[in-house]
Amino acid sequence: MAGEVHCIEHPLIQHKLSLMRRKETSTSNFRALLQEIAMLLGYEVTRDLQLELHEIETPLMTMKAPFLAGKKVVLISVLRAGTGLLDGMTKILPSARVGHVGMYRDPETLAPVEYYFRVPSDLADRAVIVVDPMLATGNSAAAAVTRIKQEGASRIKFACLLAAPEGIAAFHAVHPDVPVFTAAIDERLNDHGYILPGLGDAGDRLFGTK
Ligand code: URA
Repeated sequence: MAGEVHCIEHPLIQHKLSLMRRKETSTSNFRALLQEIAMLLGYEVTRDLQLELHEIETPLMTMKAPFLAGKKVVLISVLRAGTGLLDGMTKILPSARVGHVGMYRDPETLAPVEYYFRVPSDLADRAVIVVDPMLATGNSAAAAVTRIKQEGASRIKFACLLAAPEGIAAFHAVHPDVPVFTAAIDERLNDHGYILPGLGDAGDRLFGTK
């Protein structure tokens, strides 16, 4: 089964992403733009959430009005850069439950190493959106989703800002059932696992650590 990939080509997202890619973009602008794009991506990622009708009273009459059905969505941020996407998504899903998975890439092997894991206990009953801005090698994303599935989650989507073709292929080789939502699919990875042309290290740019 080939995995689903949704590249969200909305002009506002593309414009904001181009501003983020520029090397001279400041930390504060980078952070603000990532939050804005996360809200727009979140709008697309949640497009198929189920609704159910409940009776309400407007000032004029009663009506059956649509509300989100089922338990609250869970957003799971892959630390540390996932925090940037999480901030925007919680703006449009203010009641979402939130989990965190700490993964870093071993600089030699590029293999993911887990250092933190804390998620809501009832993932089996909830739609889960995993957020990490850069789908590069796909190793950390695949490892994070494997871990999240071990906790019982089955309705999972993965949302990122940029993806490399190699990362999408590696991720879907392990998780063909998890749709990927991204703002752009770039050319390729370099020898250090960075996305080209990309935007550099998303964590460093978001937190001003370099
Ligand atoms: N992580 C980043 O922050 N940037 C890349 O280009 C790849 C992985």
